[in-house]
Amino acid sequence: MCGIIGYCGHRPAVPLVLEGLKRLEYRGYDSAGLAFLQLNKLEVIRSEGKLCNLEEKVAKTANTFAPISIGHTRWATHGLPVERNSHPHKSNNNALAIVHNGIIENFQELKDELLQKGYVFYSDTDTEVLANLISDELDALFAAKFSKKYEQMQAELESISQNSLQYLPYMEEAFRNALKRAHGAYAVVLLSPLIPQHLLAARLSAPLLLGIGIGEYFIASDVPAFLPYTRDVVFLDDNEYVVLSASSYAVKNIYVGEEIAKTVHHIPWDLQGAAKDGYKHFMLKEIMEQPRVLQDCLVGRLQDDMVCLPELDTLAVPDSIRIIACGTSYNAGLWSQYYLEQFAEIPVTVEIASEFRYRKPILNKNELVVVISQSGETADTLGALRLCREKDYPVLGICNVLGSSVAREATVSLYTQAGPEISVASTKAMLSQMVVLLLLALYYGQRKKLACPVREVLRELKALPEILENALPKMRDKAKEFAFQYAFAKSFFYLGRGIAYSLALEGALKLKELSYIHAEGYATGEIKHGPIALIDPDFPTFALAFDDENFSKVRSGIQEIKSRQGRVISLLQEGTTLENEDLWYIPKTKLPEFIALPAMQLFSYEMADYLGKDVDQPRNLAKSVTVE
Ligand code: AGP
Repeated sequence: MCGIIGYCGHRPAVPLVLEGLKRLEYRGYDSAGLAFLQLNKLEVIRSEGKLCNLEEKVAKTANTFAPISIGHTRWATHGLPVERNSHPHKSNNNALAIVHNGIIENFQELKDELLQKGYVFYSDTDTEVLANLISDELDALFAAKFSKKYEQMQAELESISQNSLQYLPYMEEAFRNALKRAHGAYAVVLLSPLIPQHLLAARLSAPLLLGIGIGEYFIASDVPAFLPYTRDVVFLDDNEYVVLSASSYAVKNIYVGEEIAKTVHHIPWDLQGAAKDGYKHFMLKEIMEQPRVLQDCLVGRLQDDMVCLPELDTLAVPDSIRIIACGTSYNAGLWSQYYLEQFAEIPVTVEIASEFRYRKPILNKNELVVVISQSGETADTLGALRLCREKDYPVLGICNVLGSSVAREATVSLYTQAGPEISVASTKAMLSQMVVLLLLALYYGQRKKLACPVREVLRELKALPEILENALPKMRDKAKEFAFQYAFAKSFFYLGRGIAYSLALEGALKLKELSYIHAEGYATGEIKHGPIALIDPDFPTFALAFDDENFSKVRSGIQEIKSRQGRVISLLQEGTTLENEDLWYIPKTKLPEFIALPAMQLFSYEMADYLGKDVDQPRNLAKSVTVE
């Protein structure tokens, strides 16, 4: 995920910004850059790869004493991770530079308009479009007031530093006018030689906060960026912008321009804790950010209640699909089988990569291979991908890490846009894979012109972030309560039927990898074919009982366990009930998997934390398994 920091104050700004970017490194990034003013001229330095590359370039530049600067680390989602796409981006006339997190959804429309006016674009980014849109608005204001454009005012501009306030109202208005036209999500910070003592910054659906020091102000996407200097913070809300200088700040509304009184919050975290946004572990942070992940996965993929996956438009609709993956990614693939068969009417086989690659697999004619990998570097998954590519089968890679091996070697790739996942246990990555796979099922249903309920499913999907956001705090309390009650267990069954079956596998995987409690996931209907022999009061079960056509059968399965003195935690949706004391209610939705998955993640998390295990780095495990 991208990171932003901006500074104005009494310290040399460039080294401070570089240090701030380092503290945002944990978010993951593939390029970085910063901008500052040198003799009132805008200087931008950018570099691909790690921050040390940027540092090297900066070290060769004379002025690192500039008192004002903005910086950015970019985690590419649209456009390659190359220097020309990295931030800051300047407007054509060098009037301003911006750094930006988020996605301007209508950027193509705005870009076309600017292209017609003669603007030139040097990157593939939406950010450069926004930079030029602001400068275009500025030129319109200048033309009306001074009958000149910015470029024709060079002589006057040289004396600006003595009188910076003169142009501030124009820049503010241009900034606001442009942002009013930008749809989507943004956290944006602007630096301009026209207002050399000020930064402008705004937010819509992307985090941005102001750090308040003495004789200095900071603006950043995340607290750690400025934590060594201040813990006093103002959180910007949507549609707010801030004008800051070394001596003052004013938060205003983008639409009406009126100043807004804001509360200053004191951050109690130390640096290390803040890197986890105040959460005790990365895993917990990653579980809790899933509402945002749900939203991010949809960005740019829906249009007029239709699913758009243009990456796939050139591939034929397959007659069958072979999904190949490992671990949690395999479980996501297994889950999607139900939807791909139901909505796209395509037969699906799901395979464990390490098994697939050592068979002599026979693929069907016109079969699409889908490999799923959060990291995009899992050796077995890559091996399977290569085997299929050698045989000339088209491979769709679904992965989270841009530029990873899976992304590079697959015929086409879909990114899950979940942001970097730091905890070894995969949580938000699986949720994002499920979103992409569900969209894939709808997409093929659309292409085959089947009567699949695209509109209804999308409506449910779009409602999920809010439902999950509201449910998470209560679910965490419940997870804690059950972890405390069930921490005695040496073994656990996880049961699910239909769409819940693969989630049962995932629940068991999470519990064993984190808490080292033996756990097995089973299809609810299968338990009576042998495993039920293990049930006794010390062998509990976690049962998924969604409100669907399988509910009554799942209820019977739970009863069979109860009548053998087995203890059961039943996860069920509001509006249903079961004859069982340990009920865990989740909100009613037609896509309960997206709520049940975080619930089970929380249960494993709380269990591991209660038992004092190393949550983020469980023994023997690595984030990405690059060996066979
Ligand atoms: C899940 O919590 C594990 N860390 C593991 O099963 C993981 O999903 C598996 O190794 C596959 O990784 P990938 O998605 O990066 O390919």
